[in-house]
Amino acid sequence: MTEHLVTLSNRDGAAYMVNGRRPLLEQLRDQGVDLPYGCEYGGCITCAAKLVEGNIDQRRQVALNNRQIANGYVILCVARATSDIKLQIGVESHDNLYRNPFLDPLKPHELKADIATPEDP
Ligand code: FES
Repeated sequence: MTEHLVTLSNRDGAAYMVNGRRPLLEQLRDQGVDLPYGCEYGGCITCAAKLVEGNIDQRRQVALNNRQIANGYVILCVARATSDIKLQIGVESHDNLYRNPFLDPLKPHELKADIATPEDP
């Protein structure tokens, strides 16, 4: 099944049907949801939102490190829904997105997936 329901938890539960073959950003914007975006290829992080429930495929993104992914961040310009999902969108969702690298450096397993080393047991 490729049709999935997207509910926006911080927009009064507004809900939209999307096709799992197309990126979420394009489909939500087509339906009138005002979402920030920049590069549209998964590299700049502008379109990040937080996944509250459900599953997505965002293998094409290169903007997020493992910590951001573990915190639920999704790059909407490349992510596709693989189930019904609930998202928090916009700046309200960005509370854990950015960090001060001097005060809060990433641990080796929290780096980008292609350079991260496994977490110590
Ligand atoms: S718009 Fe740049 S990562 Fe999505």
